[in-house]
Amino acid sequence: MSRPSVQRGVLHRWGSILPLTENTPLISLGEGDTPLVRSAQIEAMTGLDELWFKLEMCNPTGSFKDRGMVMAVAKAVESGAKAIMCASTGNTSASAAAYAARCGLESFVLVPGGKVAAGKMAQAVAFGTRIIEVDGNFDEALRAAREITDKHPIALVNSVNSFRIQGQKTAAFEICETLGEAPDILAIPVGNAGNITAYWRGFGECAERELATLHPKMYGFQAAGAAPIVLGHPVEQPHTVATAIRIGNPASWQGAVGARDESGGLIDAVTDDEILEAYRLLASKEGLFCEPASAASVAGLLKLARAGRIQGGRAVAILTGNGLKDPDTASRQYTPDIAKAAATVEGVERALGL
Ligand code: F0G
Repeated sequence: MSRPSVQRGVLHRWGSILPLTENTPLISLGEGDTPLVRSAQIEAMTGLDELWFKLEMCNPTGSFKDRGMVMAVAKAVESGAKAIMCASTGNTSASAAAYAARCGLESFVLVPGGKVAAGKMAQAVAFGTRIIEVDGNFDEALRAAREITDKHPIALVNSVNSFRIQGQKTAAFEICETLGEAPDILAIPVGNAGNITAYWRGFGECAERELATLHPKMYGFQAAGAAPIVLGHPVEQPHTVATAIRIGNPASWQGAVGARDESGGLIDAVTDDEILEAYRLLASKEGLFCEPASAASVAGLLKLARAGRIQGGRAVAILTGNGLKDPDTASRQYTPDIAKAAATVEGVERALGL
């Protein structure tokens, strides 16, 4: 059966910078090409000349993971794999499950029991993946996934799979293409540290290809209760409201440190209160509803600004995942002010005090 060729998506759009062969299937759920929007109000609170948000939450499964997953799953299909596996705090599993469903692969996801946001679990269930809740944290689940995929003919699609990093680097190309230059600062949440590693690689390749002359300073932000890179040692029992980045021993630790040091950037920690403040500001001042982990990038910029550590320049903050994924955190943040009324003009007017 012939299928129409893909007209958009990361593999189609960025094939020239990806390790595709003539046997790589150009699968797509329409990932990539996400909006880059200028801040309306938070910018003025930061001391930056320009603050932009890269809306990675607009990817098909609601997070940046789709960029890398499409690449990793295409390569798994190319190699003849019949099944894929990942450990996940929720977004990787939603993405893996979606692309597996799309390609007719079996998928297995290992998630830390009770610590995955409800929307992400709903996605994994809907896509028909085999979900294993482990009695442990993400780091322990990843260790198990690595050993199982060594032993069995199952492709590992965590970001230790280098095809994930390759796919994710395309976001740096999109930013340089849209701005006509790399930003001065790239602000990004750090969990397992694959994404900061991917962006740094992407910006390096943009410079090599003369799509940019600058190398941005990479500003990574971990949650204070899960900040191994900031502390300089693994965290046995990571904790944070930002469950997506509740990780104590990141697989791409060295990649993150390299990005920080080579770029003259930093990796800092933000408290849950700072994360939730940024999460609320993004919604109320920008109209952007991202998940708590994503707000860490903006929380970090606000923290640096308060400490007088930002002097102008142009920054891009990566909003990695959609707020709809974590309705429970949202409902805990707000006491909704909802009036009741009869479904009549008079009833609504009375309720509104008009
Ligand atoms: N933001 C969100 C929304 C995430 O889901 C993750 C990671 C990160 C940031 C951090 O990215 O791990 O590349 O440093 N989520 C992974 C998962 C761990 O399993 O979904 P990273």
